[in-house]
Amino acid sequence: MENIITEDISAGVVGLGLMGTGVVVSLLISGHKVKAVAPLCEDLETAPERINNQLMKCAKSGLLSEPIDFYLSRLTISEDFGELEKCHIVLECVIEIPEIKETVFKAIEAVVNTEAVIATNTSALPISDLQKYLLYPQRFLGIHWAEPSYLTPFMEITCGEKTDLTHAGWVYELAHQWGKEPTLLRKDLRGFITNRLMYAVYREGLHLVENGSATLEDVDKSFRYDAGSWMTLMGIFRRMDLLGIKDYARIFERVFPELCNDETVSPLMEQMVEINARGTQNLKGLYHYNETDAKKWDEAFVLFNEEIYKLASSYSVERKNKSR
Ligand SMILES: NC(=O)c1ccc[n+]([C@@H]2O[C@H](COP(=O)([O-])OP(=O)(O)OC[C@H]3O[C@@H](n4cnc5c(N)ncnc54)[C@H](O)[C@@H]3O)[C@@H](O)[C@H]2O)c1
Repeated sequence: MENIITEDISAGVVGLGLMGTGVVVSLLISGHKVKAVAPLCEDLETAPERINNQLMKCAKSGLLSEPIDFYLSRLTISEDFGELEKCHIVLECVIEIPEIKETVFKAIEAVVNTEAVIATNTSALPISDLQKYLLYPQRFLGIHWAEPSYLTPFMEITCGEKTDLTHAGWVYELAHQWGKEPTLLRKDLRGFITNRLMYAVYREGLHLVENGSATLEDVDKSFRYDAGSWMTLMGIFRRMDLLGIKDYARIFERVFPELCNDETVSPLMEQMVEINARGTQNLKGLYHYNETDAKKWDEAFVLFNEEIYKLASSYSVERKNKSR
């Protein structure tokens, strides 16, 4: 693996919402100096506290080798895109609206040098489509983080049609310094890997609920107590190997024709959009919440992530092989 020293790589982050602030923290604790740019002035009010809180959580999880002030001293937060001038890599984390991302890419490209890598954290917009907004598209790619970004090994690096693989390879190596187990998609796959897998699960789950075969609770229970008990240790293919692979083909033959193939959005989800359901954030969702429950779920999610991160690392056969 190439010897990459994060200290020497200046990183920029544009967009300081949920993901942007988490990405800032991940980069800081990985050794980068970070220039954080707020495209909206509201970000300037909320981002410092969010970043501070997340650094405190990192400290509590034992992820910091220095005091919090050390990391904060390596961070600037500003509305000025000019701060990005000397960055080697800039990560865009703004709202999922192509036109807004376009404006942001233009503002970034106006200040960085032509070799700086520019990445988007889009969840589902095709990288090749976003790449069209760039003057130098070969340095553009997708870096898809998961929340909370400093506590998940997940990362998808995706090339667009015009991405130079040298840049993608460099980001792939760099991602290991961020504590990630990245995947590198050389082709621009719509929804990347994780969303394609999960959307297939969502479609089937909604189908079972809507045709009255199961309740929301049933679907969630099955998913939690079956898949949930093995999926951070091994993926689906390793699982097949462990269970003895031969029966799967015959089961697929019988079950695939029974699975949902709908191409339209389920009525239940349309209903959620109509009532502006934002789940635990505004107490409107697929389940009923009061404020106390919503807070408990949000807190449990953070704590669970800490524990599962440690647990998965301690059982990872791949990591143990590497360190032998
Ligand atoms: N939330 C997740 O779990 C998650 C996971 C992976 C990827 N993503 C992707 O990350 C990106 C950011 O998502 P988020 O969850 O942080 O959203 P968010 O709503 O928390 O933050 C959005 C940010 O976008 C910027 N923004 C909003 N309106 C803007 C405007 N008019 N002009 C310029 N900038 C504007 C602001 O900085 C704002 O803080 C999206 O592309 C999303 O798809 C999100």
